[in-house]
This record gives sequence, C-alpha cells and structure tokens, in this order.
Amino acid sequence: MLKRAVRTIGLILVIFLLGGGIAMFSFGGKVNVNTDKSVPGVSTEICDVLYYGGLAASSHNTQCWQVAVDEANRELLINVDRDRQLLFADAEGRELYISLGCYVENLLQAFEAYGYSTAINYLPDEDKQNIVVHIRYTKNNGDAVNQEIIETIKRRHADKSEFNSKAIDSEVVKALLEDEHMTSISSSARVMYFANKSDGNEMQKYADSIKSISLAAMNRQCQEDAYRQELSSWLRFSNKEVEEKQDGISAEMMGMSGIIKAIYYLGFNHEKAMGDSFANQGIALAEKQLDNCSGFFVVTSEDNPAGWINAGRRTQHLWYHCTEYFIAMQPFSAALELQDTRQSLQQQIETGRPLQMILRAGYVDNYGENQKVRRDLKEYVKAK
Ligand SMILES: Cc1cc2nc3c(=O)[nH]c(=O)nc-3n(C[C@H](O)[C@H](O)[C@H](O)COP(=O)(O)O)c2cc1C
Repeated sequence: MLKRAVRTIGLILVIFLLGGGIAMFSFGGKVNVNTDKSVPGVSTEICDVLYYGGLAASSHNTQCWQVAVDEANRELLINVDRDRQLLFADAEGRELYISLGCYVENLLQAFEAYGYSTAINYLPDEDKQNIVVHIRYTKNNGDAVNQEIIETIKRRHADKSEFNSKAIDSEVVKALLEDEHMTSISSSARVMYFANKSDGNEMQKYADSIKSISLAAMNRQCQEDAYRQELSSWLRFSNKEVEEKQDGISAEMMGMSGIIKAIYYLGFNHEKAMGDSFANQGIALAEKQLDNCSGFFVVTSEDNPAGWINAGRRTQHLWYHCTEYFIAMQPFSAALELQDTRQSLQQQIETGRPLQMILRAGYVDNYGENQKVRRDLKEYVKAK
C-alpha cells in the first residue's frame, strides 16, 4: 500500500518535473530571431550597414521607417512608416519622427564603422506632409570595419531593469552634454541632465517633478482601454511570436530570462495584458524604475518633424556615448504623451523649449546587450 503511494507520488513528481522542463524549454528557451539581411539589388556591405543601423531605438520597437536605396548614385531616402505609428500614445507623430531620427543617427554611425562619410539633408514631402531624410554616402580608403563602433551599436539597448543610484561623475555628464559631434544639430536639439537623490541640491526638485508627473501620466494612460490595447499589441508573449513578428517587446527586452521568462510567457497573453492586474504591475514597476537611477537626461527641440528628427538623432548619439561609459538608459515617455502633463513638466523644468525625450540613466551590475529583435531588411528596404 505504502509502496504504491510512494510510487504514485514519484510518478506525479516525474510528470511534474518533465512538464515543467518542457514548459521551461519551450517558453523560457532561447529566442532565435534570425533577421534576414539580404535585399535584392543591394550589395552585402550596404545591407550590413542597414542591419546595424536598424538596431536603433524606436517607440515599442515599431521600427517605423522605410528606406529606398539607390546604389548607383550612392544615396538613400528614408521615410516614416505611418502604418507603424502609435495612433493612441502618439497621435501627432512626434515619437514616430523621434524614432526616425534615432534610426538615421544609428545608420550614420554604421556608415562610419564601414569607412563611409555621409552628407544628410531633410526634404519636405509635400503630398503626405512628411519629411524625408536624404543621405549621400562616399567610401573612404580601405575596407577595414571599425569593430569598436559595431560593438557599441550591438551593446546599446533600452534597459528596463533596476539601476543603482550611484552618481554619474560630473566630468562624464559634462562630456555627454557637450558632444562635439552633435554641434550641427545642437542649436535645434539640446540635452540637460538632472541628478536624482542629490540631497537638497537644486536639481532634486527637477528629478522629483519628472518622477511624479511621469507616474501621474502613467496612471491616467492605464485607465484608457485604447492605451492598454495599443501597448498589448506591441508586447510579445512567446518565442514563436517574437520570431514571426520580429518587432515589439519580448520578455528578454524587459530583462527576463529562464524561469522568470517562462512564467511570464505562461501567465500572460494579449488579452490578460489589457487587464487591471497587468496595468497595476506596470505602474508599480515604473515607480521603482523612476526611483532607482542616477538621474534623468532630457532632450528638447522644436515641435515640428525636423525638430523631432533632430531630437531622435541627439538621443541616439547620447545613448551611444552612454553605452561607451556603461551607463544604462531607459526612455520614459508617459509624461510627454499627454498634452497637459507635458506642458506642466515643461513649466516646472523651465526649459522654455518643448520636451521631447526623458531617459533615466544609471549603473547596473550586468550591462547586457541589444536583443536584436529586428525585421528582415526586405520588409522595409527597397532598391531603387
Ligand atoms: C521615441 C521613443 C520613446 C520610447 N519610450 C519608451 C518608454 O516610455 N518606456 C520604455 O521602457 N522604453 C521606451 N523606449 C525604448 C524602446 O522601447 C526601445 O528603444 C525599443 O523597444 C527597442 O529596443 P532597444 O532600444 O533595446 O533596441 C522608447 C524609444 C523611443 C525611440
């Protein structure tokens, strides 16, 4: 009798462990996005440049850009992809153009790594009221690829994990704010830094405003079904979905791996991500994220498509240099996605210029790297 009971319990345990193992393997195992880098009619080297350029930041990893390549004339035309705009959080298209600017800047960096110099122009596209970015590229001497630039591009990522509150050295902040490379657009897009936990320092009131207004905005957004639905549609809930869609936010991009990732993928889906419990967990996490950081970078620029592109370029370049210093970064956009919270933060920070990006910054134990969830190039690149 006892023997049989022990045998049954043993069997249940084996089934449980086996089931857990299978679930762990299929839900917590490694995702394999395998971006196809080939585009008919475009050389391998330019495809490589475009691939690394595509590792840029974009809101919800929408990768909201389209590229036409004219290799005979050595030029590219880059447009926004309106089908990938966040119609609820970004009805105006502000983040759409900021994301385009991030892409353009990362692309310029990738061209530099492959030994090209570039000239850039913004052209109005009157029909669609869009701005198109024109890049002309010229090969300099030699075929050597600057691996240091490529490694930095591959390491840069949005880090949603907990940072520690160790202060960023003031000399480092100064170097990041006075980025000489950016002088061409610095009259349009500027960066400021507000230290967090600066104990009585004047800057603390600015960091406090960023934290409280961001949380208030998140709370308001989370009450809207349309917001929940839009966010949910860009979240991914299995390796299969990440591999098929090659965009959006995977578990790894939220800092999860192994068993935690398996639990997340097993416990949530698009429908559950629209529920109260998911929204409340998101707000609680944001509160911790806002508190646990060294400070906030804020990017300002004019409120028009060219200004937004410049803000994106400035943001991506700042992020690139922060990566060199192993400073982790995460944008926090909620406060800028509602007109009234954006206005009130602008007044409190007293910039006199429209706020375009807020990024929390700080140090982490394990810096990590970009998860490279990116679409096949031929999905958005065409040869002209
Ligand atoms: C305009 C813009 C707004 C963003 N807003 C947020 C945000 O509010 N919260 C967040 O965690 N990440 C935000 N991000 C970061 C994106 O989620 C991230 O860049 C994208 O998922 C790609 O991941 P990667 O940067 O690690 O390559 C934003 C990025 C951009 C360009």
